[in-house]
Amino acid sequence: MDNKLEIINEIDKIFEEAQKSLNSAKDLNELDISFRFFTGKKGRLTEIMHNIRLYSTEEKKIVGAKSNEVKNTIEFIYNARKNEFSGAEQKKFLNRYRVDLTIPGNYIERHHKHPITAVLEEASDFFSSMGFEIVEGPEIETTYYNFDALNIPADHPARDVWDTFYLLNGLVPRTHTSSVQVRTMEKKSPPFRVIAPGRCYRYEAVDATHLFMFNQMEGLFVDKNVRLTDLKGILEETVKNLLGARKTRFRPAFYPFVEPGLDLDIECVFCGGRGCGICKNTGWIEVIPCGMVHPNVFKYAGIDPQEYRGFAFGMGFDRIVMLKYSINDLRLLYHGNLDILNQF
Ligand code: DAH
Repeated sequence: MDNKLEIINEIDKIFEEAQKSLNSAKDLNELDISFRFFTGKKGRLTEIMHNIRLYSTEEKKIVGAKSNEVKNTIEFIYNARKNEFSGAEQKKFLNRYRVDLTIPGNYIERHHKHPITAVLEEASDFFSSMGFEIVEGPEIETTYYNFDALNIPADHPARDVWDTFYLLNGLVPRTHTSSVQVRTMEKKSPPFRVIAPGRCYRYEAVDATHLFMFNQMEGLFVDKNVRLTDLKGILEETVKNLLGARKTRFRPAFYPFVEPGLDLDIECVFCGGRGCGICKNTGWIEVIPCGMVHPNVFKYAGIDPQEYRGFAFGMGFDRIVMLKYSINDLRLLYHGNLDILNQF
């Protein structure tokens, strides 16, 4: 029985020491070491529990119960302190990677397409709805497609109108999208309707209405019985669609690749036809040069002019955008100035 008392005292002592040691641990590591020292495989309490088999049944009961109780209490203290430490660790972590949900988010501005792109898409949709296909041609072009095949031979004075930059290899940055006409006719067999939007280049002094680089949209309609009235109907509808209901007029004009050639004018959007600086006091603004495809152009393209007819047009696209939004200086469209562009 003495023996028993001694061992109970011993267990009490171990408990006191364990309690002290666990409570004074400064971090998780120290805590673990001290926990193992008392309850680990070779821990002091474990040793006592191990030797329990040496006692009588009655002693076993008492010592067993006591040491279990102490072991549980030690475990309880250990867990409590462990939580304390990991809470602190977690706090440290959270402080370092803190997410402040109250900070207002970054404002993402919504933008829109450039007015030229937007109107180009609008026009493409409109022509598609009338059965036109969208085709493209190269921006660097041969003089053949840019001039000769359009009935503008090298010695023809009309060639001066489209005088341009020449590359050293003899090619030209195309001066108009009309260069896509013969290219298209060579590839497609009639009937067909196409539009060819794209950039063009000219040797121009830059001012409010002239740029050395600009956008055009060419149109070409070839079929057996195409007539001037088809041209008029479709182009008047085009103006109505792109620029709204406006007074229009057709006037004769000369372009080597059409016969007859015409200019479609609209009543000046700036002065309402009264005459102003922009319409040069005529009250009219030219918007779509056009005409019936010249037989020579058909010949160049290998299409029989006896069998087929066609009409063509080539609108200065930047000009359409200018008129649509009453912009009085073309250069504004190319400056990329958001104060201007955000207004559309
Ligand atoms: N290509 C001409 C130019 O840039 C415009 C033009 C006139 C195109 C009459 C045509 C047309 O298709 O029929 O000045």
